[in-house]
Amino acid sequence: MQKTSVTVLGLGLMGTALAEALLAEGHAVTVWNRSAAKAAPLVAKGAVQASDAGAAIEASELVIVCLSVYANAEEILATDALAGRTVVQLTSGSPDQARAMAGLVTGRGARYLDGGIMAVPQMIGGPGALILYSGDEDAFTRHKDVLAVLAEARHVGADPGLAPLLDFALLDAMYGMYAGFYHALALARSEGITASAFAPMVTDWMAAMMRSFPEQARALDAGEFGTHVSSVATSQVAFPTLIETSVRQGVDPALLLPMRDLLDRAVAEGHGADALQRLVPLLETGKG
Ligand SMILES: NC(=O)c1ccc[n+]([C@@H]2O[C@H](COP(=O)([O-])OP(=O)(O)OC[C@H]3O[C@@H](n4cnc5c(N)ncnc54)[C@H](OP(=O)(O)O)[C@@H]3O)[C@@H](O)[C@H]2O)c1
Repeated sequence: MQKTSVTVLGLGLMGTALAEALLAEGHAVTVWNRSAAKAAPLVAKGAVQASDAGAAIEASELVIVCLSVYANAEEILATDALAGRTVVQLTSGSPDQARAMAGLVTGRGARYLDGGIMAVPQMIGGPGALILYSGDEDAFTRHKDVLAVLAEARHVGADPGLAPLLDFALLDAMYGMYAGFYHALALARSEGITASAFAPMVTDWMAAMMRSFPEQARALDAGEFGTHVSSVATSQVAFPTLIETSVRQGVDPALLLPMRDLLDRAVAEGHGADALQRLVPLLETGKG
């Protein structure tokens, strides 16, 4: 692969991992961080430390940004040095923030890609890491090989807001899964069953349940809500006992309550006989 000059702005845990992966593949890496001392280990591995963010931007055609929040990036990218470069914004933010940032960056003559990192720093440069990109497709095609050094690089659309939207949707699913996992662990532990003894059981169960995702998704897209598997009402009538058991076992049922409320609403609105994917349209309140 042709070696590229890349700038990395932000050397927190993630920015450092990104810069390390690029250095390991022999790319010329310029780095900048607010706390300059964090650059030292990367300089020891061959990175060039820029004196300020503007100089770092000027050093490379490809500029990767990985800071805590968008507000940090807005300040740093408000410079004419951007002209002619491609900015890849990997700071986590909302779709609207990504679109506003795209406007700011393209207004200064640069191309813009937003990214959602589906990995922890230790996974960067290794198998299983995925980064979703959205925005300027030509810029993605031009830099795809170097971006693929960091993680599998997947372009999901021209609208810069799409990668952050999908990033958050995947995080939603993760936090929902963790909520169930943690509540289940507490319930098992209430009878002295260790987390380690319970973990294989819950892992197999979740894997079995996840196999229903593609069919539920297909039916939702098709507007099909009939079921021969399990109805909304079947889950709804089970919930009071789930919650009562949780309370009696000394486990806070707080994580279960939003699901109970949604099931109650679905039944109250006449959807008791429907399949569980009926809950999705009930969540859709319209864009605010
Ligand atoms: N870590 C993960 O597992 C992970 C996974 C996916 C996505 N991400 C995303 O990647 C981004 C960076 O995460 P991280 O784990 O690297 O965070 P981190 O270790 O806390 O690093 C934050 C970075 O932002 C910089 N920063 C904070 N405030 C600043 C300001 N006012 N001006 C200039 N720079 C500022 C910090 O500079 P200083 O060193 O000077 O404080 C540092 O470089 C976040 O948006 C995060 O959501 C992280």
